[in-house]
Amino acid sequence: MPISKDTMIEAMNVNKEYRRAGAIIHALNDVNLTIKSGEFVIIQGPTGCGKSTLLNVLSGLDIPDSGKIIFDGENIARAKEDRLSRIRRMKIGFVFQDFNLINTLTAMENVESVLWPTVLRTSEIERRAITALRDVNLIERKDHFPVQLSGGEKQKCGLARAIIHRPRVILADEPTGNLDPESEKEIMDLLKEINKDSDTTVVVVTHRDKLNSYANKIITMKRGKIQNIK
Ligand SMILES: Nc1ncnc2c1ncn2[C@@H]1O[C@H](COP(=O)(O)OP(=O)(O)OP(=O)(O)O)[C@@H](O)[C@H]1O
Ligand SMILES: [Mg+2]
Repeated sequence: MPISKDTMIEAMNVNKEYRRAGAIIHALNDVNLTIKSGEFVIIQGPTGCGKSTLLNVLSGLDIPDSGKIIFDGENIARAKEDRLSRIRRMKIGFVFQDFNLINTLTAMENVESVLWPTVLRTSEIERRAITALRDVNLIERKDHFPVQLSGGEKQKCGLARAIIHRPRVILADEPTGNLDPESEKEIMDLLKEINKDSDTTVVVVTHRDKLNSYANKIITMKRGKIQNIK
């Protein structure tokens, strides 16, 4: 399928520092990149190089110290929190490296929670949640609470939550980090299918070189900098 030419996300001269115990960590150091609508992008690089920080600022979960993040035509680096949460709710599905599930909700309720509050009927919310849980092969665990799920099952639940509202962009931080090879392939195949069928932009952070064949674009980071884009 041809990649459409619209820019979905653009990072321009983005910097982000963390200060810890007197030391300054330059987590993002003058990062520039463009992600086009419908692309499947893989971000890779060693532990601590800034991959999660980059994903967080690209989605408005975190604010850069300087630079611009143009998301679907709008600079979100300076947007207010209510605008940011609206953009995330409407347009972004985010898979967290550490899952971020709500412990007091079941797997199904965690997935549904993206749609709350809503004008949709309860039956429609349930139908969508069941479809998303089936897509990630977790339907048999729908009534389990996060403590009753394995690491891989929590990861699948996090992915179901990221796709239920059919976002324009899915940003996934190590979405297969806790999965066996078979489940890893299932999840990557599912992301590719969503990417192809609905022109959803997919950005995946991963350490695993063998997943590179899924990508149209591979961004390699090192010490807060983009080292290579191909
Ligand atoms: N909240 C924070 N406070 C202080 N330092 C932070 C914070 N978050 C990240 N860092 C530091 O910023 C750098 C980049 O972190 P980041 O989590 O983006 O790396 P990463 O590439 O995702 O690593 P990993 O592959 O281990 O997930 C690291 O040196 C990390 O220790
Ligand atoms: Mg990380």
